[in-house]
Amino acid sequence: MESARSCYTLSNGVAIPCIGFGTYNAKGGDNLAINRTAIEAGYRYFDTASLYETERVLGQAIKESGIPRKEFFIVSKLWIDERGYQGAKEAFERSLDRLQTDYLDLYLIHWPRGMEGDTDWKETDLETWRAMEELCEAGRVRGIGLSNFLPHHADVILKNGKIKPVVDQLEVHPGYTQEAAVRYCEENGIRVQAWSPLGRSAMLENPILKCYAEKYGKSVAQICLRFLLQKGIIPLVKSSTLERMKQNQDIFDFEITAEDMSVLNNMPQNTWLGEHPDFAIPKKRSNFAQ
Ligand code: A2P
Repeated sequence: MESARSCYTLSNGVAIPCIGFGTYNAKGGDNLAINRTAIEAGYRYFDTASLYETERVLGQAIKESGIPRKEFFIVSKLWIDERGYQGAKEAFERSLDRLQTDYLDLYLIHWPRGMEGDTDWKETDLETWRAMEELCEAGRVRGIGLSNFLPHHADVILKNGKIKPVVDQLEVHPGYTQEAAVRYCEENGIRVQAWSPLGRSAMLENPILKCYAEKYGKSVAQICLRFLLQKGIIPLVKSSTLERMKQNQDIFDFEITAEDMSVLNNMPQNTWLGEHPDFAIPKKRSNFAQ
């Protein structure tokens, strides 16, 4: 990989940039300005979701940029209350409408299980997936995938679905590497994408990472992003400033040694930020962290 626009090839043959911009809960609140700035900073791969409520401003920023739609890679996700066959079809149309586009590059199931007390999650995931397969076959979306699916959730789709998921978006950063889930994805040809690749503020102050930042003459954020890049994981990085947006793409002029990668891979696994998909199922959209 030579720049943020360098691509991996997904299992269905679609090229995907090696770094994406995350649009969740951008600091400062002015999401339109943040998305405009991210385009100016050079990002073309944008990760959004109906939960984030950033689709509309992202669509506006893209339209206003005057840059052709096909130069962008746009990923969105359907939320818990949009699962099911009909729910997925309708959610997809709403996302396209908010994004002012007629196709998505990827569409993901955001969360494997439903509201509290959902005992039929496997059936619901399969019905959701069937709708997404149809959207894929109809050419409305270039690929379909998963988000926050652990191996036992993804297995339901892999064993029963017609189309294989091309990505799984998981929380991954130094201090929370999810080795088992990442290995499962690798074994099944599923590209991992990392949300909160900087582990938010907790990792930015981490003494081990600060030590490597000094050693390589880079920022802690750049160490986290380069670590993921070297693992073949796509970071979906967020920032609200042009300077940091640019800095976060400037990770192609150094290499972390195998020994240092081992240290980073084996840091204490104590900086989990998210919710457990099987145990902390939120009731409402507003209760939720990712
Ligand atoms: P800011 O918007 O002020 O840049 P994560 O993606 O892991 O959830 O982390 C997002 C947080 O990391 C945001 O608060 C963002 O703040 C901060 N951040 C993003 N890039 C950098 C960077 N290069 N250096 C320091 N902080 C950063």
